[in-house]
Amino acid sequence: MDKRLKLKIFDVISKVSDEMKQESYVIGGYVRDMLLKRPSKDIDIVTVGSGIELAQKVAQALRSKPRVNVFRNFGTAMLKYKDLEIEFVGARKESYQRNSRKPIVENGTLEDDQNRRDFTINALALGLNTYNFDLLVDPFNGIKDLQDKIIRTPLDPAVTFSDDPLRMMRAIRFSTQLGFEIETKTLQAIAVNKSRIKIVSAERITEELNKIILAPKPSVGFKLLEETGLLEIIFPELYKMKGIETVNGIAHKDNFYHTIEVLDRIAPNTENLWLRWSALLHDIAKPATKKFFEGQGWTFHAHNYVGVKMIPKIFRRMKLPLNEKMKFVQKMVHLHMRPIVLSEEEVTDSAVRRLLFEAGDDIDELMTLCEADITSKNQNKVKRYLSNFKIVREKLKEIEEKDAIRNFQPPVSGELIMETFGLSPCKDVGIIKDAIKEAILEGEIHNNYDEAYSYMLKKAGELGHKKKN
Ligand code: CTP
Repeated sequence: MDKRLKLKIFDVISKVSDEMKQESYVIGGYVRDMLLKRPSKDIDIVTVGSGIELAQKVAQALRSKPRVNVFRNFGTAMLKYKDLEIEFVGARKESYQRNSRKPIVENGTLEDDQNRRDFTINALALGLNTYNFDLLVDPFNGIKDLQDKIIRTPLDPAVTFSDDPLRMMRAIRFSTQLGFEIETKTLQAIAVNKSRIKIVSAERITEELNKIILAPKPSVGFKLLEETGLLEIIFPELYKMKGIETVNGIAHKDNFYHTIEVLDRIAPNTENLWLRWSALLHDIAKPATKKFFEGQGWTFHAHNYVGVKMIPKIFRRMKLPLNEKMKFVQKMVHLHMRPIVLSEEEVTDSAVRRLLFEAGDDIDELMTLCEADITSKNQNKVKRYLSNFKIVREKLKEIEEKDAIRNFQPPVSGELIMETFGLSPCKDVGIIKDAIKEAILEGEIHNNYDEAYSYMLKKAGELGHKKKN
């Protein structure tokens, strides 16, 4: 069989380990991803002895003499070599946790170390010393789970999850990313231990959630989160969207399943995490705004506005950024119904101009979201909407070329208005400015200085202002 460990760095670590008479292995995600043919740049080395010393000697043996970052508390060291990040750690008896504040306590054998890892597919190790170079050490038959596409804990799942409850999220995340099944006992243990997720920091949970959102089919993860009971704890607003209510025989759709379907539909069209978050949150205020009216049925009046207001609280709690990324999501949620409403009527130039004015540079993302939002089972309806959207997109291009509305700057400034009519700052200046903007959006005048100037003279005249000489 072809050698698996082909990179030169592995030969160097092998030679140094032999010289130190220390057992070393490549372990974890790198081995898993290599066997799955998913390229990875993060390499974890576990050694029976000091990981820090091994890292320092490896760095010395390399011509580039890379800097070694030592984390003495955790007994780990990291170095960068070419485009690789290599982390060295001594084999340990207790649970292996990245980013944990808990310092290491007890050294152990390779077997101890493998026992305390999260999943069988993440516990695979490849030997690095001359006598076992490239040989697989697989005590839990992880290779079979890899082939059968199964997520399973090496020990009793209750033990593995109590070592680090984040692993419940990780199981669901790997299942979603890799398209693997979670083995029944492991899945049941998540449901039983779900409350333990509360001791995990929001940052670590969000990191897993983002990976689920960025997976090719995120609904897989959200269904698992819902089934195991984790969703209700980590994302109550989304959980509340589940369910159908019927009054007088009229039912509304299940907004949870609709939402995750929209997320699946947008996935092939964007890798932008924030656009995917927009898909996840576009209807988040539907439960809060739901009302039934006799003769009218279910309504979710102003759910886009209420949704915009809910977002900062969700982002703060989840330790998501409160900057322009959040503003982008708010803008998408605010505008998400506009293209649909627009395409239901005759697509007029002025309606398209107004949409372009409000969406600005984010117009393409907004259209992508709206196209994903059409989840009707009625194929004719879907076809009609999508072909109307095509018309909207064409019109958007046409109008953008003609009128340059995308990043609208008023062609006549407030200063010029004041100077022309000898005004100091007052209400009328704003009225004139607004009137010019409206005239452009309505298509009465073009978006240029000369036409805006004439319009300004006219509007100011109506308000009783005369041009100064
Ligand atoms: N690990 C663990 N328990 C955790 C986190 C990590 O047992 N809560 C172990 C696993 O063996 C994992 C390795 O540490 O393979 C490296 O962790 P990490 O880099 O977080 O994950 P990867 O498996 O490399 O996967 P990814 O890069 O996709 O996060």
